[in-house]
Amino acid sequence: MKHFYFIYLLILLVALLVVTSCDSGDVHEVYRFKSTGRTALLTGSVDEWEELPEGYNIALAAFGSTSDYALGQRILSSSDVKSGRLRVELSQLSDTVHTVELCVTNTLRKKTLSLQRLELASLPAQDTVRLESTLRALTSASCLQTGFFNEACIRCHGGGNQSARGLNLTEGHSMAMLVNVPAASHPELLRVSGGRPEESLLHQILAESGQDVLHVNHVEILHKLGVDTDVLRTFIDEWIKSLPPKDPNS
Ligand code: HEC
Repeated sequence: MKHFYFIYLLILLVALLVVTSCDSGDVHEVYRFKSTGRTALLTGSVDEWEELPEGYNIALAAFGSTSDYALGQRILSSSDVKSGRLRVELSQLSDTVHTVELCVTNTLRKKTLSLQRLELASLPAQDTVRLESTLRALTSASCLQTGFFNEACIRCHGGGNQSARGLNLTEGHSMAMLVNVPAASHPELLRVSGGRPEESLLHQILAESGQDVLHVNHVEILHKLGVDTDVLRTFIDEWIKSLPPKDPNS
């Protein structure tokens, strides 16, 4: 009888071994299938580079479908630009990555402004996805232009007769029309007062309490942009702090 049990146990053990060894093979296959291991390659022509305000970076970053915190990012640095050509790679993208974006992120890797984005699901399953940057300047001003003014403002502050209060926020005009320029609606204020965010009309109309500063509610416009408004406000304030104050002689 004892003998019988022993053989029975042995058969069971061998069967178990066979099953588990098959299983580990399967697991390996599933793992390889699930991890796409794609690489994102960002290239472009760049003729201007500047550090963003402290705590913010321009990055090539990967995001899931529900969160604004990057799953992974590669911060751009001046050494990524050689002879005017930018080349940056972000590799080992897992299958939870939904978009790869050229963007501004803060120290917590939270998206502050999206500059260009690629949706991975819409692309063929190739190993390398490519993103050609349209930003020739990697500066705070060009990030604000691409990720903020172009997205949220120029439909009312475009060129020609399309500029509400004569404020043209299109590329090549926005900075000269904002920085240290008196506001048309509030002549006692500057639209953007270099070094002084709180004294800038731009800061006041975007603040949570700013909906009644102008006839048009600009806080609502900010909320529609789809990024964390507080993170963006802080970035705008830091940018204003970095600007030179108005020359008292001009
Ligand atoms: C729906 C149209 C609309 C959009 C979009 C819009 N604005 Fe305005 N904006 C206006 C109007 C109209 C005024 C003038 C309001 C007034 O005089 O009370 C104005 C005024 C301003 C002023 C004050 C100008 C001055 O000299 O007094 C600033 C600064 C400004 N907008 C910035 C922005 C920014 C930045 C954005 C994008 C986030 C934006 N606006 C988006 C319609 C818009």
